Amino acid sequence: MMAKRRPLIAGNWKMFKTGPEAAELAGQLKVLVSDIADVDVLVAPAFTAISVVAETLKGSAIEVGGQDLFWETEGAYTGQVSAPMLKAAGCSHVIVGHSERRQYFGETNGTVNRKINIALKGDLIPILCVGESDAEREAQETFLVVKEHLDKGLEGIDGDGLAKLIIAYEPVWAIGTGKTATAEQAQEVHRFIRDWMEKAGGNSIAKALRILYGGSVKPGNIAGLMAMEDIDGALVGGASLDAESFAGIVRGSLGVAQ
Ligand code: 13P
Repeated sequence: MMAKRRPLIAGNWKMFKTGPEAAELAGQLKVLVSDIADVDVLVAPAFTAISVVAETLKGSAIEVGGQDLFWETEGAYTGQVSAPMLKAAGCSHVIVGHSERRQYFGETNGTVNRKINIALKGDLIPILCVGESDAEREAQETFLVVKEHLDKGLEGIDGDGLAKLIIAYEPVWAIGTGKTATAEQAQEVHRFIRDWMEKAGGNSIAKALRILYGGSVKPGNIAGLMAMEDIDGALVGGASLDAESFAGIVRGSLGVAQ
């Protein structure tokens, strides 16, 4: 059964593309997906490229997101970027708790929680990333880890907040490795996340929640993932850096063979 929620395909450009390079990619993408009306499309450039990408995408339906934010609105926090700064630069969304931030930059479930709160307060839609490492999957701790990411990352977030949220399931072992989770492996965790949300926010919020899969998504595997009931889109890294392949994933999310 196809998911009934509107698909969202988001590109996480990570630490790639200078401003001019990002503008060029955004310009190509704008043309390539202009005829696709049934999928929401979002790109998350580096902070330095957000304004120019937002400017380039004016007049298109493609939205722009940040890759991270700080948990205060302003202050003496050298190197940090706040929700109002992202918003003013043209962002509607922000990725929070990506595994690379957890792995390299000391992100914890506690800091994730503070960031989700400030994002919501700043009228940004958080895309909360959850997912287990290779060792955790081997130790059969996948559900335990995902539950902890959700319990702690979303602690105290009320129904209004939960209703705005997007969740991305990104198994760490599938990120940038070419090793995609099978559609069935992803589906079982997506179902677990939706069940968690039903307990936390109730049936209608859980039903409407968009849960994205991330980890080596390509034009050739998106249709199989999207065919799963609880997979509502993708958070794409490597394949989002090329306009043709990202557009192929956007088209493929509608079940069109690529
Ligand atoms: P890849 O698509 O390169 O595996 O990256 C996934 C990811 O981390 C998106 O946030």
